[in-house]
Amino acid sequence: MANPKRVLSGIQPSGRLTIGNYIGAMKSYVALQEEHDCYYMIADLHGITVPQDPEALREQTEMVTALYVAIGLNPDKAAIFLQSHVPAHAELGWIMTTLSYMGELERMTQFKDKSAGKEAVGAGLFVYPPLMAADILLYKAHLVPVGDDQKQHLELTRDLAGRFNHRFGETLVVPEPLIPKLGARIMSLDDASKKMSKSNPNPGSYIAMLDSPDDIRKKISRAKTDLGREIAYDPEEKPEISNLITIFSQCSGKSVPDIEKAYEGQGYGTFKKDVAEAVVSALEPIQARYADIRASGEIHRILKDGADRAAAVADATLREAKQAMGFLLPRR
Ligand code: AMP
Ligand code: TRP
Repeated sequence: MANPKRVLSGIQPSGRLTIGNYIGAMKSYVALQEEHDCYYMIADLHGITVPQDPEALREQTEMVTALYVAIGLNPDKAAIFLQSHVPAHAELGWIMTTLSYMGELERMTQFKDKSAGKEAVGAGLFVYPPLMAADILLYKAHLVPVGDDQKQHLELTRDLAGRFNHRFGETLVVPEPLIPKLGARIMSLDDASKKMSKSNPNPGSYIAMLDSPDDIRKKISRAKTDLGREIAYDPEEKPEISNLITIFSQCSGKSVPDIEKAYEGQGYGTFKKDVAEAVVSALEPIQARYADIRASGEIHRILKDGADRAAAVADATLREAKQAMGFLLPRR
């Protein structure tokens, strides 16, 4: 392995994963596993920062785990695990909460978005970012593949790592976000000013990774388009078409200029059909593997093995951090 780096990332088990998750984050997970030491978790402790139904949490946790394998993650290379299976996350999360300032947490846009207009806002939503910092810092991760919306949380993580090291001595690694150049923010199909999200009440606004080919075709044919009929990548002037071009490019491997050239002088109709076919072809093999994995009953073994490997790294860092802070450590 030439210069292997530590990689950590995670996804909450809330709702159905979309092609936004896939393009913005999961595709990079797979690319990184060949050369780096990767840890990919299902952020179930983050999943409970908004109200959740126990049955749905169980189902969605299994679903995300199976999707991790279905996209091509190899559990013998990357550790796949549940955040709740490694207690060090909750513990370092608390420590990171004590290092965070109210003001900096109040500035987090995800907190502002998720709490806007709500009468009762859970405190877990407020301390979500220091828990995320702990997730990353426990592994001394150098790289964190995420979509654009997590940039601010990564900045906070870097600040907290620096603050810890400054106060208690060099212990934690300051991580870098790894954000794709194209596709870091896949937008909603019905409104290109909003990010595509599984929590949107209109299922026509997103493509779930497990949507049937017919649903995918329907959703793309109904996707909003900009005025005019030119197929050109211009996120400012033509946000809707640019979003479809991004999805097309990321699902087919064709470059943006090649796509623009191929559809010169053509209307939106053919273009949309081809976008739909590219998405269907990208998702079909994933969906087939997904069904196999769910049927195999392998998920629990994968998670057990992943948690054992993750805990070995996380427990060692937690111990180091606590020692640096002046906690008396239990004698081993
Ligand atoms: P979440 O579903 O919020 O747990 O997000 C999991 C990962 O997917 C994070 O790295 C997000 O940044 C990424 N992600 C979620 N939605 C999108 C989107 N619409 N476009 C690009 N990346 C996304
Ligand atoms: N907050 C991330 C999201 O909603 C999920 C997450 C939790 C995460 N812990 C993480 C991502 C650690 C990267 C690293 O997308």
